Amino acid sequence: MGFIIAIDGPAAAGKGTLSRQIADAYGFHHLDTGLTYRATAKALLEAGLPLDDAAVAEKTAHDIDLAGLDRDVLSAHSIGEAASKIAVMPGVRRALVEAQRSFSLRSPGTVLDGRDIGTVVCPQAPVKLYVTASPQVRARRRYEEIVAKGETADYEAIFAEVKTRDDRDMGRADSPLKPAPDAHLLDTSEMSIEAAFQAAKAFIDAALNR
Ligand code: C5P
Repeated sequence: MGFIIAIDGPAAAGKGTLSRQIADAYGFHHLDTGLTYRATAKALLEAGLPLDDAAVAEKTAHDIDLAGLDRDVLSAHSIGEAASKIAVMPGVRRALVEAQRSFSLRSPGTVLDGRDIGTVVCPQAPVKLYVTASPQVRARRRYEEIVAKGETADYEAIFAEVKTRDDRDMGRADSPLKPAPDAHLLDTSEMSIEAAFQAAKAFIDAALNR
């Protein structure tokens, strides 16, 4: 079994960028688990299936192939919203968590990022990070990302969406978003990507040397 790094946090806190950097630096496999929920939601939407039928959603989740996940294809805001709706279903979570766990065992190591990696998927991970930032900063980053692509964006609407997504992810009964008791907290509100990476690296190196 390889070395597992579990990274959790709310939407747009910077955990995706950080996870990819860590995986590159250590030569580990990376899985963005949000993509598994997004792929399930997209498959339902494309098949014209309802988002509120737990049995249909669970069956769809079982058929998701981790090898075919692509953030570019799954990045649409509407897919993220649909993903957070089906993510409340225990059957969907069971199916996806099983696939995520088997991924986590790859050698020489893995980085998994999501909402429940340190608490549910890989509670045995030797390094757990909880990456967060204020809702204002996260909304601002989303806004700037969209504007940088030459599209128009409405900051107030994005801020409201960030709050709605947080409430849904933190308030659900099954696997709500929260830091594991032994997670290291990284608040990136006033931190550069490089500073966040250096802080994470210090925790990882300490665990690798234990
Ligand atoms: O991180 P991302 O925005 O791609 O995730 C989409 C949605 O999938 C989240 O809002 C959350 O509801 C769900 N999710 C989850 N557990 C994970 C990863 C994502 O419930 N481990």
